[in-house]
Amino acid sequence: MKRTLSILCLATILLSCNSNEKISKDIFEEVNKSMEVKKLSEVDILEEAMKWGDEISTEAQNQLLSALQTAISDKGIPEAIAFCNTKALPILKEVSQKHQVSIKRASLDYRNPTDQPTENELSILDAYAYNAENNIKSEPNIQKLEKGEVLLYTKAIHIQNALCLNCHGAPGTDIDAETLEKLQQLYPEDKAKNHKIGELRGMWSIRIPKSEVAKRL
Ligand code: HEC
Repeated sequence: MKRTLSILCLATILLSCNSNEKISKDIFEEVNKSMEVKKLSEVDILEEAMKWGDEISTEAQNQLLSALQTAISDKGIPEAIAFCNTKALPILKEVSQKHQVSIKRASLDYRNPTDQPTENELSILDAYAYNAENNIKSEPNIQKLEKGEVLLYTKAIHIQNALCLNCHGAPGTDIDAETLEKLQQLYPEDKAKNHKIGELRGMWSIRIPKSEVAKRL
């Protein structure tokens, strides 16, 4: 009897020992896993923000371009200026609201003063301008703002073809007299003329809240 008891005791001790070990191992693995998840998610969030920024800027660009082309074929270039003047920003606002982000175009040589760069945007635009002048391809960029709570996605916009020159090229040769008059009326301080194909025109600048990116993962 005494022997059975001591064997039982030993078994209990061994068992409890075992389960203690198991619990601490489980906790250890759990902690490890959560640290790994945390570490991974920072990278995941930046990658997702880059992917999403690409999608949003493409969507915004397509919306603007198709609206611009319709306006030109319906009313001609000079009247399309008035269309850009009243419709470009509302179109961007609509796409912004749809995705809960804030989309703008920023430019060193802006036409609409709303598109003046902020300090953060200025240094990125300078880098894109340097690249364009030196035939270096500019890649989209993600920058952390506000302690990482907001991610700033940017992507260079170039003068891609002759369509752009109708309103952003040289007055007299690319821009006709009627269009020039409209531009002067609406944008007396216009800096967005005299561009050539391939030059930097500006960039997409999209402020994406980190919390919105996290929802997508
Ligand atoms: C019908 C004339 C017209 C054509 C064609 C045109 N734009 Fe513009 N663009 C404008 C006007 C007007 C604005 C100012 C819009 C506003 O007030 O929000 C503008 C603004 C911009 C801006 C915002 C920065 C700024 O200067 O305020 C970018 C970037 C831009 N255009 C790029 C292009 C590109 C690239 C093309 C060719 C694919 C193009 N545009 C074709 C008239 C035109």
